[in-house]
Amino acid sequence: MKKPAAKSKTLAKFSGSLLLVGAGKMGSAMLDGWLARGLNPRKALVIEPQPAKPLKVLTRRGLKLNPKNTNKGKAVEAAAIVIAVKPQTAPDAVPPLAAYTGKGTLVLSIMAGRTLRFLEDKLPPNTAIVRAMPNTPAAIGRGITVAVANANVTARQRKLASDLLAAIGKVEWVDDESLMDAVTALSGSGPAYIFLLAEAMTQAGVAAGLPHDLAARLARETVAGSGELLHRSTLEAAVLRQNVTSPGGTTAAALEVLMGPGGFDQLMTKAVAAATRRSRELAG
Ligand SMILES: NC(=O)c1ccc[n+]([C@@H]2O[C@H](COP(=O)([O-])OP(=O)(O)OC[C@H]3O[C@@H](n4cnc5c(N)ncnc54)[C@H](OP(=O)(O)O)[C@@H]3O)[C@@H](O)[C@H]2O)c1
Repeated sequence: MKKPAAKSKTLAKFSGSLLLVGAGKMGSAMLDGWLARGLNPRKALVIEPQPAKPLKVLTRRGLKLNPKNTNKGKAVEAAAIVIAVKPQTAPDAVPPLAAYTGKGTLVLSIMAGRTLRFLEDKLPPNTAIVRAMPNTPAAIGRGITVAVANANVTARQRKLASDLLAAIGKVEWVDDESLMDAVTALSGSGPAYIFLLAEAMTQAGVAAGLPHDLAARLARETVAGSGELLHRSTLEAAVLRQNVTSPGGTTAAALEVLMGPGGFDQLMTKAVAAATRRSRELAG
């Protein structure tokens, strides 16, 4: 079993200012993670039209909420800008960020479907931009995010993007932006597939004669516990599966159905392909 990793204070030495645009579900989860990793709240600026109470409380520790970008008439250049507004808000929310964007600024966007090209068109020429796709377990620091950088991102900025994204879970990088559609279909939408699995197991338990509430509890804890076991184990999923399957036993009987023709893996392949197509359509 892997040991749980201790939170490192990777952002304790962050220099300059960090601007968060949109402190909704994802933005606040990121901000919490940054503070837990040692970010000095005095270095944080947040633009959020409807700030929640915990955000307002942070202003007492020096966080600047909805700042006016005037430093005696000179624009304040941020070291990093993290865009966490809804994709449909982007055409209004992104262009004003040019005021905070200088030569050394890293712009990190987690907006689903908003491409590097879209961001490049809305920001000053040669801006360093990273596009990232997180997923909902980010809310508890257990997400997985896939990131892709444009040609202006330096090695240092890439490391900074990794440190900022690590606040909400694990980080993977790809070089080819076109893979982001498949990423969206697998890990972006993936949590919904797992919740559906818990629902389907509940229904199956009821069909096999269990009371609904008991079936729901059994399904929930089985999905959650197995996920945690997979998380902590160094073994592949297939090995963990084989470890609970005795030849000729009950699990083997179920897996014969799930892994048979038209079974679970084929359905999942079709589902992820459908989501990938939809992601491409939405990107236009
Ligand atoms: N949730 C996920 O699982 C997930 C997964 C992958 C990617 N993402 C991406 O993460 C981004 C944020 O998602 P979310 O679930 O955190 O959304 P959310 O909870 O709606 O957060 C967005 C926040 O931005 C604020 N906002 C709106 N216009 C703004 C502006 N012009 N300037 C600054 N802030 C503004 C919104 O305020 P109002 O409420 O007042 O409009 C809201 O608080 C989205 O682009 C989404 O595609 C989310």
